[in-house]
Amino acid sequence: MNKFFSELFRKKVYDVEKTQFVRKLGVLDLTGIGIGAIIGAGIFVITGQVAANYAGPAIVLSFILAGLTVLISALVYAELSSRYPITGSAYSYTYVSFGEFLAWLVGWNLLLEYGVSVAAVASGWSGYFRSLLEKGLNIHFPDVISGKVPIFFGLHFDLIAFLVVILVFILLFIGIKESSNVNLFIVFIKLFTLGLFLAVGLFIVGIDFSNLNPFVPPPGENIKGESAYGWFGVLRAASIIIFAYLGFDAVSTVAEEAKEPRKTVPLGVLLALLISTFLYISVSFVLVGIAPYKELNVSDPLAKAMYIHGQNLVGNIIAIGAIITITSVMITMGLGFTRIAYALARDGLLFSAFSNIHPKFKTPYVSTIVGAILLSILAGFVPLTELAELVNIGTLFAYFVVGLAVLYLRIKKEPGGTYRVPIPWILIPINLGLIIFVTSGLPPLTWMRFIIWLVIGILIYALYGYAYSRKVWK
Ligand code: ALA
Repeated sequence: MNKFFSELFRKKVYDVEKTQFVRKLGVLDLTGIGIGAIIGAGIFVITGQVAANYAGPAIVLSFILAGLTVLISALVYAELSSRYPITGSAYSYTYVSFGEFLAWLVGWNLLLEYGVSVAAVASGWSGYFRSLLEKGLNIHFPDVISGKVPIFFGLHFDLIAFLVVILVFILLFIGIKESSNVNLFIVFIKLFTLGLFLAVGLFIVGIDFSNLNPFVPPPGENIKGESAYGWFGVLRAASIIIFAYLGFDAVSTVAEEAKEPRKTVPLGVLLALLISTFLYISVSFVLVGIAPYKELNVSDPLAKAMYIHGQNLVGNIIAIGAIITITSVMITMGLGFTRIAYALARDGLLFSAFSNIHPKFKTPYVSTIVGAILLSILAGFVPLTELAELVNIGTLFAYFVVGLAVLYLRIKKEPGGTYRVPIPWILIPINLGLIIFVTSGLPPLTWMRFIIWLVIGILIYALYGYAYSRKVWK
């Protein structure tokens, strides 16, 4: 029995200097990967819907609340990635601090975060893409391949979402540096698009303060008949909008491909998140300042806010920018998915083939191929809007555990790392409290789905990982 427990909680010691990857990425690439993963469907799609349905103009406060929660988690990631610059991110950090079982659960939730995000965001991409083709070029796709009518057993199929995931994974198969270069180009477009929205919103359209009054609308029902608005609405909106911030951790999943990772990875994590937070708070303020929040319950709220004011060209540029932007989220989240699968397999918790590196392209090609198959099917067949909430809860679970890991390292007085969380005994308890607070805004159904996901994870560990990781250990 004692042996069972000691094996369940045995800790990993990684050789942080050894890697099968080629170190090609610098601070700019890493910050780009962060911004590439962070800014996407959250700000371009969900912001408007959440403002309309839950928070009203106070969506700005929801962004601040969610941003604070995630910012402290980013400090935690910065410290841990400077201590352990290894692929696998929160999973590997937990393995080092709390042992195998919790590490597996964190890794299992990271697969959920990255994988389901790719699929969810692909559905959003497909919606934007179709509507642009329809509006701009009058090209109409048959309903049967647009996810609008069921094809069999009540299942809907979205061909474009399916294909775009396959294209993204082909890119990831070919190579990390190529993916990073494409990503940097897209990041430039995304910053330009949000900059354009801010400039036109502030200086041409102008803020209409009557849109911001009352800033926190009185509690009431939204159009779905749910209770919303008021301070509860701010919390509910924060629990969804946290999706917009997820992805900074993708930087730490490529630590083994970074040059001087102890310095560049923490810097990349923090820079990416600070830039995104600044943009989110400003963009959400301008959005609810130029358009009445009730009109923003659409799939292209930022473009719509421009159309309302006759700024059609700007609206179209923003719509195209959004499509390109969401592509970079798929690339970086896809990258995170394959690297986490690689790390889990390397440690014997998933089938060993997932850690095979392609002799020519130097990428974990089995993880990439399997990701392409599973996630394209998910994107094609499953309408995933609700699953954004599931992604949030899974990811916040990982943030919670790594927060505890830093406190644990402090108690043990572990040396190492070039970056340390400042005043950890104040900031981290605040962080853990905020995570609990924000997740309390999620509905019971999401909590139930999360528990089911954890139970499946525990079963996989019991039936496979527990035995096979032992062999790798030896
Ligand atoms: N943060 C990413 C997005 O907003 C997942 O699309």
